[in-house]
Amino acid sequence: MRKNRRILVGVTGGIAAYKSPDLVRRLAERGADVRVVMTEAACEFITPLTLQAVSGHPVHRHLLDTDAESGMGHIELARWAELIVIAPATANFIARMVGGKADDLLATLVLASGAEIAVAPAMNLQMWQNEATRKNLDRLRERGVRVIGPAEGGQACGETGPGRMSEPDQIAQELLGDATPKLLADAHVVLTAGPTWEAIDPVRGITNHSSGKMGFALAEAARDFGARVTLVSGPVHLEAPAGVTRIDVISARDMLEAVEAHVGDADLFIGVAAVSDYRPVRSEGSKIKKNDEKMELGLVRNPDILRTVAAMDNPPFTVGFAAETDRIDENAKSKLEDKRIDMIVANDVGGEDGAFGNDHNRATVHHPGGAIPLERHDKYGLSVRILEIAASLWRGESAGLTADPDAS
Ligand code: CTP
Repeated sequence: MRKNRRILVGVTGGIAAYKSPDLVRRLAERGADVRVVMTEAACEFITPLTLQAVSGHPVHRHLLDTDAESGMGHIELARWAELIVIAPATANFIARMVGGKADDLLATLVLASGAEIAVAPAMNLQMWQNEATRKNLDRLRERGVRVIGPAEGGQACGETGPGRMSEPDQIAQELLGDATPKLLADAHVVLTAGPTWEAIDPVRGITNHSSGKMGFALAEAARDFGARVTLVSGPVHLEAPAGVTRIDVISARDMLEAVEAHVGDADLFIGVAAVSDYRPVRSEGSKIKKNDEKMELGLVRNPDILRTVAAMDNPPFTVGFAAETDRIDENAKSKLEDKRIDMIVANDVGGEDGAFGNDHNRATVHHPGGAIPLERHDKYGLSVRILEIAASLWRGESAGLTADPDAS
């Protein structure tokens, strides 16, 4: 992946501006150096402080700002950018671009820069369908501006149809997808993610704190590596990455059934789910009432999905995760051998800094040939490293493996 591609994100005044921080984060995760310019109207929807926090740099807002000009001035910024993406791009801003206006900082930068330019339009359905907008976009396309989206769906104004901004994940993929090495081109990757829910009765169950973020980040990275991805997910509050086939399940037994239905032609299987090891002996059909002082809950073992896949006749390359609170590497190594899998990622889930629900993670990869410590990355960055290693081992290139280049 090419690092440090210099991207200027322009945010204009539409409700979709609430998605801009997510876009900045995703571009940065993929190795881009991101700076943000906001129009005055954009600041009505989202604060510059939020975008400063996610980009790690002050947000540029004014054309004639002496403080900003003494730092990175507008001409310098125009020269710095290799790519300018305006997301959201309102109908008004698009019209201003067509007219070649230079009446605020962002419009001036677009005019003054030789960078590649992309817009992600976001507007009400009628505005999108209006001939004026369509012609404006044609004019921009003729000038080489890339138009990403818009997507169809529910809009803030209550209407449904085309006009909403494409999801940040999709925009990032369109802008930087080509920069990702296609290490898993044509491979089928099946993943499990999230917790499972083992019902005690219709309102209660046994579950755990897994957020699903690691499995979803791995699914996204596998897709970026060119794989066809099937994501079997327990109950989580996450949107599946675009282009990934998602199968929602509740219990461990449902998860195993879904995995067995899809793993037949898989090249890689990655078990990230925090599968409940036990389930209640019976799940009551109606809510259990509190009658007695004491109540005993009988539990039985759930199937081990990862072990089942690894024991198949012609198994895919299997990767497990070891969620541990202590003796992390030791426990991970014994799981690697015991479950007869090809690789395991040892994760510290203990303490406040642990992996569950966190956006950052530290981990060590164990495989039969050795151990590779990975430096603390966000979950997408960690996913990229994990998949690079998995892809090498899967192709039998273990000799080329070295420690994480980012590890200090
Ligand atoms: N796993 C699985 N099915 C299970 C339990 C675990 O597929 N029933 C997978 C997980 O997705 C993970 C790996 O096995 O990739 C290790 O999970 P973990 O919970 O750390 O280990 P367990 O095997 O459950 O062992 P223990 O709970 O005793 O540490």
